[in-house]
Amino acid sequence: MLAVQPRSQDAPPPALVAPPSGAAERLAQWRAAFPAVDGLICAGVSPGAALRRLGLTFWSAGEALAAAEALGDAVALEPGDAAAWLDLGFARRAAGQAPGALEAFERAAKLAPENARIWLAVGLTAKDLGAVRRAESALERAISLDPAHDDAIYVLGLLCFEARRYAEAAQHWRALVARGYRAPGLWLGLGQCQFFLGEFGPAAHSLAAYLETAPDDAAITRRLALVRFLEGAIHGGPEGALAAYERVSGEGAAPIVQIARGAVPLLAGYGYVATALAVARTFLAADAEDPVHRHQIDALTAEPVSRAPAEYVEAYFDRFADSFDTQMFDVLQYCGPRKLSRLVAATGSPSARTLDLGCGTGAAGALLRPRATRLVGVDLSANMLEKARTKGVYDALERADMIEYLAAHASAFDLVFAADSLIYLGDLSALLEAAAGALAPGGSLALTLEATTRSAYELTTSGRFAHSPRATIAAAAPWFSLRASKRAFLRLEAHRRIHGALIVLERRG
Ligand SMILES: C[S@@+](CC[C@H](N)C(=O)[O-])C[C@H]1O[C@@H](n2cnc3c(N)ncnc32)[C@H](O)[C@@H]1O
Repeated sequence: MLAVQPRSQDAPPPALVAPPSGAAERLAQWRAAFPAVDGLICAGVSPGAALRRLGLTFWSAGEALAAAEALGDAVALEPGDAAAWLDLGFARRAAGQAPGALEAFERAAKLAPENARIWLAVGLTAKDLGAVRRAESALERAISLDPAHDDAIYVLGLLCFEARRYAEAAQHWRALVARGYRAPGLWLGLGQCQFFLGEFGPAAHSLAAYLETAPDDAAITRRLALVRFLEGAIHGGPEGALAAYERVSGEGAAPIVQIARGAVPLLAGYGYVATALAVARTFLAADAEDPVHRHQIDALTAEPVSRAPAEYVEAYFDRFADSFDTQMFDVLQYCGPRKLSRLVAATGSPSARTLDLGCGTGAAGALLRPRATRLVGVDLSANMLEKARTKGVYDALERADMIEYLAAHASAFDLVFAADSLIYLGDLSALLEAAAGALAPGGSLALTLEATTRSAYELTTSGRFAHSPRATIAAAAPWFSLRASKRAFLRLEAHRRIHGALIVLERRG
């Protein structure tokens, strides 16, 4: 309840504010509903201040919506009070009214531009609203006013992290760690940044520090094992990696073979090609049948291979299925399905009967569904197909090799959609011919490629193929004419941006 001062004969009269239209009625309502407010005003407190006190009382009682209403009326009566605008911002934020909160914080900042706390509030709220530039400049302002404003530095790090500017995020967070600042997730965030930057030693240190506070986090325990393996491999080759793994095994780490399979492309991606090769060879020596290491070695030694073997694709994606969506879309910014489906729609390509070729977890399914009367997904990996099934948008999901499936379905489709799947084929001629056979005249083949200009195709150290868009369009010419082609960013790889091409080809009549 409000602490109401008794009315005093000496008390100054209530402030003579000409309330904005409507405010007088609302003030009267507040006074009638809350005698304490009336008492304050009668005791000489200005109406705006009395309503602010009422708002803060609501706030202390956890009634954010009522607080926002009272504070909104308080600032309407006294618009020059920065502190009241700040309170209003907090109340609106707590009431789920982020746009109104931002407006209130910005008014407060205008009135008190030297107040770092207000700029932090602007930054946090703008961040919530996805207004990244606004958030960043507000946080920078807070830090310039108070260089030791750790909360602002922490949030700025978070903003950089979410924008995948890992080097900047790590710089902000390292400074906080050095100053002893503690926030939930600070070590985790820093460790993730260091991992993405390829700083495996520091990443291991940060992730281990995080796990001291969250020992049950299985995903990060696995990541720490991988990071230690990578660090061990870089400094001590396969033996060093094994020794490092020994130290974390039994603590929830994945089996060593799985770690090694994941580590090889990472080592190669971060430039440790010789180490990657040594690791893959060591593991192949232990299991000569391992299709993943066999293909990885081909990729690392630039063997003239014309496609990724089916056993490799199955083993690799069966294992990857669980984490594929998070890893590809959230971490690596993979955007192939979204960009390619947009281009298909823009070209007005027919898509009644659509085949999602190498559908994976079905990321493209929901994008293709609205324009398709029948939507079929095909993939070699049973576990990827299982994930696609959970999306609930396909009429049929088939486990098959994509070329074989196309060859067995003459004129069955109007659109063949291949996002990030032809990268597992080198020579595309059989695929192009089979796709032409599976399409009705006038139908479309839409595809993404990772681009190279060095040759028609090449197997990269990632184990995927890159293709020359120009050579691919030329190879398709016997059956297809070009509808559209576009250069596009596709994904990140070991912190590098991978560009490629989006291509839509039309089946000649
Ligand atoms: C990188 S994922 C892309 C998945 C999905 N198209 C997307 O954009 O999210 C590549 C998929 O192609 C599948 N794939 C690779 N080669 C294949 C082949 N020869 N036949 C069928 N599927 C294949 C893999 O199993 C994997 O699910």
